[in-house]
Amino acid sequence: MPHLFSPLKLGPIELTNRIAVSPMCQYSASDGSASDWHLQHLMQFAISRAGMIALEATAVERQGRISHGCLGLYSDNNERALARVLAAARAIAAPGTAFAIQLAHAGRKASCLAPFQGGRPLRHGEDPWPVVAPSAIPFAEGWPTPEALDGDGLKRVLGAFSQAAERAVRLGFDAIELHAAHGYLLHEFLSPLSNRRTDAVGGNAWNRMRWPLEVVQAVRAAVPRTIALGARITGSDWAEGGLGVEDAVAFASALKEAGLDYVCVSSGGNVSHAKIPLGPGYQVPFAAKVKAATGLATRAVGLIATPEQAEAILAAGQADFVALARAFLDDPRWVWHAAERLGAEVSYPPQYARVSRAIWPGAELVRPKQQGAVPA
Ligand SMILES: Cc1cc2nc3c(=O)[nH]c(=O)nc-3n(C[C@H](O)[C@H](O)[C@H](O)COP(=O)(O)O)c2cc1C
Repeated sequence: MPHLFSPLKLGPIELTNRIAVSPMCQYSASDGSASDWHLQHLMQFAISRAGMIALEATAVERQGRISHGCLGLYSDNNERALARVLAAARAIAAPGTAFAIQLAHAGRKASCLAPFQGGRPLRHGEDPWPVVAPSAIPFAEGWPTPEALDGDGLKRVLGAFSQAAERAVRLGFDAIELHAAHGYLLHEFLSPLSNRRTDAVGGNAWNRMRWPLEVVQAVRAAVPRTIALGARITGSDWAEGGLGVEDAVAFASALKEAGLDYVCVSSGGNVSHAKIPLGPGYQVPFAAKVKAATGLATRAVGLIATPEQAEAILAAGQADFVALARAFLDDPRWVWHAAERLGAEVSYPPQYARVSRAIWPGAELVRPKQQGAVPA
């Protein structure tokens, strides 16, 4: 059996395979509440046969949204809207499909247009809101100067993380993932490029980890052990003086200690001048290092697109599972096609079973067998 299609224990839950749909903001919510777009987005992945489906960055408080269209979990309305979407997706998903939600706070990168509207900070007349961060340093020139969170602010946001986690528990998610990457609030605290505080939550690496770890502990306390708890962390800021993979190892070790079940290692997003050497699997070495050093279940992500590439990452022991984002937007049937290419069995939803290669000659026309591929 290919590694990709073997089950994986993730703390209290077991994934049916090692393929995750990566969290992807849809910028299609209304005051944080999921819409029909989310319904179709999740429904198509519900029949994808991915072992884990991770919902997009979901703001723990209103001002923690990146844009007006971001999903949130800060109100009863948000919770009701998400309950509808999740129930519908669960009803059609294969048994054992794990639904995860990513809880986030955008920090100094909040109050923006959606990327497909230009992604710039909101202007007067576009209902902007004040943004918060560890220090009063804007993300880039032309971006708003954030307010440095004071003691009360830190308490408020920590409380918001824990309340949103309670809502996620009530909703019945199988896994909860804290977003500590991509230059959002938790990452901003970790990185010396965005955290210049001189109090107990700034300064040396340990101090910079202190508040994110307090958030983790609060969320851990709010989430029963039957639910997997993970985090997306950063492998590198890709900028001088910023975080590197050793920092990722230190943070992941602390997360393990705090009772987290997995990490996903991404990178970048904290400063606009980062130089990111994009290429196939460019973040995988970070995941490999974190996995080897901590033994924590580790997910690799970033320009992983083909089944063979994903399989090779797992076969080499560089990660325990993989997340794909754009490859799933391109082909929501990625898992079916990966099974075909790698010679694994995957059950199709019976309504769509007639497209399997075994019984549909058209499969050979659209996906001629490639040299080297294992025949289905
Ligand atoms: C449309 C879109 C939305 C995204 N939204 C999120 C998000 O909400 N949270 C997150 O951690 N990453 C987000 N990402 C990053 C992806 O999860 C993933 O890490 C990145 O796209 C690299 O993986 P890929 O090469 O498979 O696309 C998003 C990516 C895309 C394409």
